[in-house]
Amino acid sequence: MRTHYCGVLNRTYLDQTITVTGWAHRRRDHGGVIFIDLRDREGLLQVVCDPDRAETFHIAEEVRSEFVLRISGKIRLRPEGTHNTQLATGEIELLAHEIEVLNTSATPPFQIDDENLSENIRLTYRYLDLRRPVMQANMRLRYRVSKSLRDYLDSQGFMEIETPMLTRSTPEGARDYLVPSRVHAGHFYALPQSPQLFKQLLMVSGFDRYFQITKCFRDEDLRADRQPEFTQVDIETSFMNEDQIMDLTETMIRQLFSQVMNVELPQPFPRMSYAEAMHRYGSDKPDLRIALELIDLTDLMKTVEFKVFRSAADMSGGRVIALKLPGGAELSRKDIDDLTEFVKIYGAKGLAWIKVNDVSQLNESGLQSPVVKFLPESVLGEILNRTDAKNGDLIFFGADKEKIVNDAMGALRLRVGKPEGAWRPLWVVDFPMFEYNEDEKRWDALHHPFTAPKVGHETLLSSDPGKAISRAYDMVLNGWEVGGGSVRIHQQAIQDIVFRALGISETQAREKFGFLLDALQFGAPPHGGLAFGLDRLVALMSGSESIRDVIAFPKTQRANDLMVQAPNHVDEKQLRELHIRLRQAEATKP
Ligand code: AMO
Ligand code: AMP
Repeated sequence: MRTHYCGVLNRTYLDQTITVTGWAHRRRDHGGVIFIDLRDREGLLQVVCDPDRAETFHIAEEVRSEFVLRISGKIRLRPEGTHNTQLATGEIELLAHEIEVLNTSATPPFQIDDENLSENIRLTYRYLDLRRPVMQANMRLRYRVSKSLRDYLDSQGFMEIETPMLTRSTPEGARDYLVPSRVHAGHFYALPQSPQLFKQLLMVSGFDRYFQITKCFRDEDLRADRQPEFTQVDIETSFMNEDQIMDLTETMIRQLFSQVMNVELPQPFPRMSYAEAMHRYGSDKPDLRIALELIDLTDLMKTVEFKVFRSAADMSGGRVIALKLPGGAELSRKDIDDLTEFVKIYGAKGLAWIKVNDVSQLNESGLQSPVVKFLPESVLGEILNRTDAKNGDLIFFGADKEKIVNDAMGALRLRVGKPEGAWRPLWVVDFPMFEYNEDEKRWDALHHPFTAPKVGHETLLSSDPGKAISRAYDMVLNGWEVGGGSVRIHQQAIQDIVFRALGISETQAREKFGFLLDALQFGAPPHGGLAFGLDRLVALMSGSESIRDVIAFPKTQRANDLMVQAPNHVDEKQLRELHIRLRQAEATKP
């Protein structure tokens, strides 16, 4: 129907007769001449309709926003002074000879180039939202990213193998999405939280190098970087250790950025232990673009009387830290009050601070603060020394259980710090095997229960579980965990010990993962891998705030699809076939 895309035309096409198709992005009536900006997936083209051609002009008068048009005409230079440097086609225009309306459009609920749309409107009319040039660019970038990753993995001998969607609970630790079985009354499939167990079994089968770009499903609290269904670039290899797996996948990401973004990432990516990341940044996914660090004061505060700091320093598992904000003395009381409310979200009980007005006066005249009167000069001197504070700086303090201090002050660091530089990838390594779950009074796997312990840490699994380090690794980019994986346990004896440490009995282990335990007995090779979050990678690369902007049809924070209106009620007959009766309360909820 057309000879060219709109967005590719430029002055090399001068005087050529061409035909384009697309949507009427804007129509301007300049008394006598009508301009139509025609839009297709490649961009915008200005079309001019002269009254000389009466029939064409008449059609142009009837055109409204988002009408679908086919226009033939001649490319000519725009008059001097009317060039649009913002547009690739900005030097030229199409003088319309013929216009055909291929379809009309109802008045759209919003103007396609409106920048201030609510997300609800965008998601309700997602097919219109996706017409916007930024969304078109995001989807194109997403395609190029997955193509680049596929090509790289193919070149390294990886084979894409599909794994089931209707399966049973997998061990990533979120809630499952369940699918009731009609054939087996009272039985349910679970949608996979990841292909974890299947990819390990493919290694037992001898495929050696597997990958898959696939959907995963997790029913968890949603945030900007989390969706209930999201896409992993899932990878597993045999006979490779963690250094080799990290090298291979790091090269993949470096090539991706080079090919698709023209960005050269550092080689190699720096590596940091989990312990160091928590200590310096209060996070296992530190954003290294922000220079601020948590400065430990726990030892120092064991010597003071001020109860808030002393009790945190003395408690087992307590921590006291300072976070210096250069130039922060300019913050108002209101700013500080707002930040105090902010850290409370993370469980902090308060936010002590010192404004450094004059470093030479270690008292209330040099240091403006609600807590200086409780701290001796020597301690104040040491705080300034450790934080290297200068006049005009602000020092915040966090004192509590380590987890609260790390969460709250790590979040404050991101909130008040200014990112510098574009791309700061790193590997976080040496994760603990287990994390103590205070609520349930038991150890949980930090990664998943198939992650191998570091060589030499096997006996710690039962003697001192909190000290055992795993062979897991995460790739972190600008404060986002973009990928994670581990070397797996390939011997049943070790797998048994890990299950015991997690409080999973032999019967429970057999019940849930019997097939994997069996498989490990039939010559399972040493294996390991990782998975990247494709949505997160593309969101970062496109500069999007939320992964929803790089998913064609995403769900809201409340896991709704506003366009198709899912989830939805189903009729009684369907429920009966599935052997399901709704509880009264749930059935009547809107
Ligand atoms: P993990 O649970 O760390 O590991 O997931 C791997 C990567 O997937 C992305 N991701 C998500 N993205 C969007 N929304 C979500 N809800 C979501 N959850 C996770 C993250 C994360 O780094 N089977 C293991 C991998 C392995 O061990 O090989 C796994 O799933 O970017
Ligand atoms: P209070 O003694 O509770 O009035 O607190 C004195 C100062 O310490 C106030 O600025 C509080 O915001 C701050 N503060 C209280 N608890 C903590 C805490 N756990 N960590 C850091 N600062 C705190």
